Amino acid sequence: MGNNLVVIIPQCAERAKSARLREVLAHTIGDNPPEEIIETAEQLHPLQGKRILFAIVLGSSGINLEYYRMLKQIRLDQHIFDDCLGALLVDGKSELYTKYIARELVLAANMAGCSFIGRPLVEGTASLANFHIIAQLRNLDAHGAYLWAAQDLLSRLLQETRKHQGTRQLLTLHASNKTTSNTYALWKMVKKHVHDINIQEISLWDKEINDCAGCSYETCLHFGSQGSCFYGGTISEDVYPALETCTDLLLLCPNYNDALSAYLTAFINRLTALYLKQRFYDKNIYAIIVSGYSGSDIIAGQLIAGLCMNKSFFLPARFCLMETAHEPGSIQKISGIENIAANFASIIIKSH
Ligand SMILES: Cc1cc2nc3c(=O)[nH]c(=O)nc-3n(C[C@H](O)[C@H](O)[C@H](O)COP(=O)(O)O)c2cc1C
Repeated sequence: MGNNLVVIIPQCAERAKSARLREVLAHTIGDNPPEEIIETAEQLHPLQGKRILFAIVLGSSGINLEYYRMLKQIRLDQHIFDDCLGALLVDGKSELYTKYIARELVLAANMAGCSFIGRPLVEGTASLANFHIIAQLRNLDAHGAYLWAAQDLLSRLLQETRKHQGTRQLLTLHASNKTTSNTYALWKMVKKHVHDINIQEISLWDKEINDCAGCSYETCLHFGSQGSCFYGGTISEDVYPALETCTDLLLLCPNYNDALSAYLTAFINRLTALYLKQRFYDKNIYAIIVSGYSGSDIIAGQLIAGLCMNKSFFLPARFCLMETAHEPGSIQKISGIENIAANFASIIIKSH
């Protein structure tokens, strides 16, 4: 029986640059040889139902030209990864760019049909300083921690078998003015088509919400273990309990200065206390994103990094609906918007 594993490793013209990644990969794969290894854009082809480990090496410029040739193909074929499940290794020769490339690749692959496990990224910056906590916790050096994290990633990718039993609970979080917001209006169109799922909506609009205070690990753990956070209030009294029982989380995200709004950013930052108590691997994350002009992909990237990569939510294929509308009410004027909304509802219903 095959393991359905495909490794996509865009080749680097200077072979020496990829030596560390290839060593990590060889150690990681060990007894699980992949069905296929894809190294060039020409070799890339539709991969239905596979488990994909993307392995990207970046030079000090943060650019790998073969990766960009593949990215182009992925963006042009919206079904190239239908029903696939992904995770990724990114190895850099700089302290920068590894996360940037990971966000970009996850969004493109997700739009082309690939789901991603929670915490799908293992990155090695040039110094491997990003491994200092894992190294401390596991009593390893940074290189050993890198090998451990990559192996853990592959086993989580190969073992993922989640399927929700029973009725699903969708928690919709927003901070919009219900009467004027295009983002909220789009949610109302989607909601009409979401059947057989219980929906709970929480508005953060006009609430007093503090951003994370950055307490010490011990303090955060202390409050988190009691299902609370240093500040208390709506986040710990209303949002935490709803989050603990939901199977799916949907965020309504207007683009504010090419970023999430302050309320939603505070919510994600304040999730840390709950995250120390429990992981969210079995909860799906979705988003409806509306920009007045452009930049919805930046918001999608922020959600991928904050909630899937850092906070362990599962990223279902085509997790976000992105539209452009500015004047209040103009979302309704987008051609075919009712069908687009119904289609997004069916994505939510089908992913479990
Ligand atoms: C504070 C603020 C900042 C905004 N920044 C951007 C922006 O950077 N880019 C953009 O395309 N639209 C921007 N917009 C426009 C909204 O994204 C737009 O109105 C869209 O319809 C979503 O907002 P809504 O759901 O509140 O209607 C901004 C709006 C506000 C209020």
